[in-house]
Amino acid sequence: MKIFTTQLEIADFVFAEKSLNKTIGFVPTMGALHRGHISLVEQAVSQTDTVVVSIFVNPRQFNDKADYHTYPRNQVADLQLLESHSCHAVFCPDYNELFRSEDSISLNFRNLDKVLEGKFRPGHFQGMIDVVYALFQSVKPHKAFFGMKDYQQLRIISLLALEYFPNIDIIACDIVRESDGLAMSSRNMRLDTHSRSIAPNIYKTLKLAADNYSDKTVAQLLEFMWAQLKLFPQFTVEYVEVCNGNTLQSVSPHDIARGNMLLLAVWCGGVRLIDNIYLK
Ligand code: PAJ
Repeated sequence: MKIFTTQLEIADFVFAEKSLNKTIGFVPTMGALHRGHISLVEQAVSQTDTVVVSIFVNPRQFNDKADYHTYPRNQVADLQLLESHSCHAVFCPDYNELFRSEDSISLNFRNLDKVLEGKFRPGHFQGMIDVVYALFQSVKPHKAFFGMKDYQQLRIISLLALEYFPNIDIIACDIVRESDGLAMSSRNMRLDTHSRSIAPNIYKTLKLAADNYSDKTVAQLLEFMWAQLKLFPQFTVEYVEVCNGNTLQSVSPHDIARGNMLLLAVWCGGVRLIDNIYLK
């Protein structure tokens, strides 16, 4: 497995692989890798010839500076894990290598940045597309793999690709969960023992609601979820929403339907957790 730190090196590597007629799969990450990330690498290995993973904790997308400074970093273990999962190259740039200026990239977000995470994390999605744009420019993959765990991010990256990188296929990958249902996240390792034992109730709430939505209005479903979450005083709910799965705008009171999504953000023991589920 090769490790690169400059744009020139990774671009040269990809160029050489492409000239051997290899297809390039790309998995962008912020490191502190877990089975959720590895499932993306596995999909990339199964769908493309040469797999590139990037590890870069992007300060531009952290609206909360404390969150940036305490974000888990574990590069030695990450590299070992990637090597053992048949990754071919890892791109670990520093800030100045990736961002040559303070300029941001302009994108028509079609209001996807105004809702859900966008309301509570000002600037997050702009900082996120800045880095994904820079990474796509450096790697120029055929396919890029993203998790449904960050569903709003995935939708926004699809818009970025549509506008700037029409040749990159964006592949959506299922959420990987712990055996108790908690969606895997690098931030889970910050949960203390008690918070960790409570946290699976976030998914339990989503699942219960998704299994019982058909006889409810939007208001009833939201009320049900709030009531479930309120059973745990350790939770501070930031938002719970029923949204159209494409536009992510709220659905009107009597329009709950298959393909809508339930999305939420909950603070648990000082850690912000997000999760979502499709209505089938
Ligand atoms: P990060 O949080 O490290 O996640 C990297 C990728 O792993 C994202 O596509 C994310 O959705 C996916 N992922 C995380 N947890 C997952 C899980 N439990 N199941 C499936 N996929 C999961 O998302 C980012 O980094 C950054 O915003 C990034 C796109 C790299 C830009 O900085």
